[in-house]
Amino acid sequence: MEHYRCFCAFVMVLMSCVHYSLSMEGNKDIPTEKLLVLTVATEETEGFHRFMQSANYFNFNVKVLGMGEEWKGGDVGRSIGGGQKVRLLKEAMESLSDQEDLVILFVDSYDLIFAGGPEEILRKFQQTNHKLAFAAEGIIWPDSRLVEKYPSVRSGKRFLNSGGFIGYATYIQKIMNQWDLHDNDDDQLFYTKIYVDPLQRERLNMTLDHKCEIFQNLNGAVDEVFLKFGTERVRVRNTVYNSLPAVIHGNVNTKIYLNYLANYIPNVWNYERGCTICDQDMVDLSQLKDFPQVTVGVYIEQPTPFLPEFLERILNLDYPKDKLNVFVHNSEVYHEKHIQKFWEENKDVFRSFKVVGPEESLTQGEARNMGMDLCRKDLSCDYYFSIDADVMLTNRQTLKLLIEQNRKIIGPLVTRHGKLWSNFWGALSLDGYYARSEDYIDIVQGKRVGLWNIPFMAHIYLIKGQTLRNEFKGRNIFVLERLDPDMAMCRNARDVTVHRERESPSPERFHMLRPPKGVFMYVTNRHEFGRLISTANYNTSHYNNDLWQIFENPLDWREKYIHPNYTRIFTDNLLEQPCPDVFWFPVFSEKACDELVEEMEKYGSWSGGNHKDKRITGGYESVPTDDIHMRQIDFDKEWLHFIREFISPVTLKVFSGYYTKSYAVMNFVVKYTPNRQAYLRPHHDSSTFTINVALNNKGLDFQGGGCRFHRYNCSIESPRKGWSFMHPGRLTHLHEGLPTTNGTRYIAVSFIDP
Ligand SMILES: *[C@@H]1O[C@H](CO)[C@@H](O)[C@H](O)[C@H]1NC(C)=O
Ligand SMILES: *[C@@H]1O[C@H](CO)[C@@H](O)[C@H](O)[C@H]1NC(C)=O
Ligand SMILES: *[C@@H]1O[C@H](CO)[C@@H](O)[C@H](O)[C@H]1NC(C)=O
Ligand SMILES: *[C@@H]1O[C@H](CO)[C@@H](O)[C@H](O)[C@H]1NC(C)=O
Ligand SMILES: *[C@@H]1O[C@H](CO)[C@@H](O)[C@H](O)[C@H]1NC(C)=O
Repeated sequence: MEHYRCFCAFVMVLMSCVHYSLSMEGNKDIPTEKLLVLTVATEETEGFHRFMQSANYFNFNVKVLGMGEEWKGGDVGRSIGGGQKVRLLKEAMESLSDQEDLVILFVDSYDLIFAGGPEEILRKFQQTNHKLAFAAEGIIWPDSRLVEKYPSVRSGKRFLNSGGFIGYATYIQKIMNQWDLHDNDDDQLFYTKIYVDPLQRERLNMTLDHKCEIFQNLNGAVDEVFLKFGTERVRVRNTVYNSLPAVIHGNVNTKIYLNYLANYIPNVWNYERGCTICDQDMVDLSQLKDFPQVTVGVYIEQPTPFLPEFLERILNLDYPKDKLNVFVHNSEVYHEKHIQKFWEENKDVFRSFKVVGPEESLTQGEARNMGMDLCRKDLSCDYYFSIDADVMLTNRQTLKLLIEQNRKIIGPLVTRHGKLWSNFWGALSLDGYYARSEDYIDIVQGKRVGLWNIPFMAHIYLIKGQTLRNEFKGRNIFVLERLDPDMAMCRNARDVTVHRERESPSPERFHMLRPPKGVFMYVTNRHEFGRLISTANYNTSHYNNDLWQIFENPLDWREKYIHPNYTRIFTDNLLEQPCPDVFWFPVFSEKACDELVEEMEKYGSWSGGNHKDKRITGGYESVPTDDIHMRQIDFDKEWLHFIREFISPVTLKVFSGYYTKSYAVMNFVVKYTPNRQAYLRPHHDSSTFTINVALNNKGLDFQGGGCRFHRYNCSIESPRKGWSFMHPGRLTHLHEGLPTTNGTRYIAVSFIDP
């Protein structure tokens, strides 16, 4: 034990020696206890919390001034203001005046984070060889007439910014003694006037941090500043001055860039550890007495494929239904049948269920506001969950996961399958539209996983009821200038300000009393939540239009229409051979069978089974069936694609070495029924191989039926719905369709590689 202590003491002596020799011009290092950070914040905004988190990470000693005070400093960043900050600092300095060797670092907090610690800042301060150092920027504000008075600089930022400065307490005191202005006077102008006065500048031994060694103002410098990843922490590098600034300030219009940087700095996310803050401030739903009440706003704003499946997924969310109030806005007449069916089956399942249909002719902004208002005005509503009909939530836990993450606004990442298209933007262009952030692709592809503070999201998000009632009070946040509703919502969230009504009788006149708060919007990719489907090229002129979505939304098409056991053909050899070289396997889902039959019956022009047939070349069919060709319902391209995607792999498996061209002219649905055509006499097919898919159920929908192969004296009399036969066509497999004795039997047939 003694040994250990000695050794420690020895190391400490050694370390302080090293420090000595490193410090400039032999000056003694200022001990970190002598650094006090002062900041002004009247409210604990999310930006303030972020500031404190970064300060705590570096163990800064922070004193917050003005908390709870009403903000009177004007709208900082857009107009003159900030005098209140100086007044509060002046008051604070009076009580610190006896501490001569104290160093004060005064910084903004709502839009500022630390990227370096006290030791580093003190060292860099000493290297300035001045008693006071202010942040610098390349843009002069607020009085450009002062430009001539500024000392010129050979390299570096020329102008003063009051968002950050560091100096000895006694010198700061000297500045504060000159303050006799008002709370809404401009602090930056006050400091600037002192700085541009050569006498004052010398007396106060004052300089600017021209090369961003300590302070980085992002305004006008976004292109110079990049993330620098380290193994322990992340900081920024200013590439113009090759400096590593320690105080990062998202002044004026650079808050979005600061938010991006702060997704990493100082230790929020890095390559080694991933997200280090994601589990902070979580809500544990299992610890709550009761699940929170949620208003679910569902928006169907255009014809959308797979709507019944979408609604089914909402129903299947793992969440107590008696805690969900469902609001549906449907602007499409086409979808009324889907909504009607869902409503009839589930109207009593939820706590409440309200549908607003196309007859109301609401604009999107009005509709979204109506849904949101249901939560905003209902004090028992804890969360508002907005979801558009093009979001396929494959994760049943989504709602719980979002609530547990405990943010004011949070959306799950959803992307278009296999594409870079997603529901968020990582950056904005100057005109407020999409710009790609450096990390966008990594986030979309899940190479960086975490919680991301982003400037825009749409399609799906969760907002706290409290946030609607406080920050978004009394306004339709979906309407702003000519922006579309999502962009309006996000801009309103980014720019949220607490307004207070003036005593004037005109209610639309508001007076701004506090600095912009901004509600942080997060997108999480900590889990797989689901995907966005494409609503483009959705032609609703057929009856079951999703059948045509095989190209536009292949994944959803497959989930809806391909037999759930299809892949087991390949993994478990789920494949039968009831007759020699007649293979039998599952391929269509129940829905595929039903919708295809329904589509044909809606079309209705069955051929009647005549020898004369204008649909085929030659006009004569020797073994005619009562059928409708796929081409007649405009389904031939889709059908051939289905053959390529789902039949040719089976062909390769059972006829190994044969690569099908997946080409077919004769693709049709046949109807067998006793009073029209009940059977088909023995014949060969004009194909290399044929598929024959049963579209309904023997026993249930018809009696009789089946297929008989003469060469092998082999019959299959119990066809299975959704299962297909595959057999050689023109040589060995002479076959006949056995009589259907009652009801109607449907099959889908293709003569492949004719
Ligand atoms: C400022 O103070 C330093 C000592 O801390 C001194 O070396 C330097 O000359 C002073 N600069 C001016 C302009 O007075
Ligand atoms: C939709 O499908 C119908 C029937 O196939 C076709 O006549 C029409 O041109 C299609 N509309 C569009 C916009 O593609
Ligand atoms: C898929 O296979 C499993 C196991 O054989 C079976 O239980 C299930 O019913 C099959 N699914 C369908 C839709 O036929
Ligand atoms: C065909 O099979 C049936 C029973 O499966 C049998 O009774 C009959 O004799 C067979 N016919 C020939 C020609 O082999
Ligand atoms: C034919 O089917 C109908 C219903 O589809 C049923 O009522 C009737 O009993 C069936 N007839 C025979 C002979 O099986």
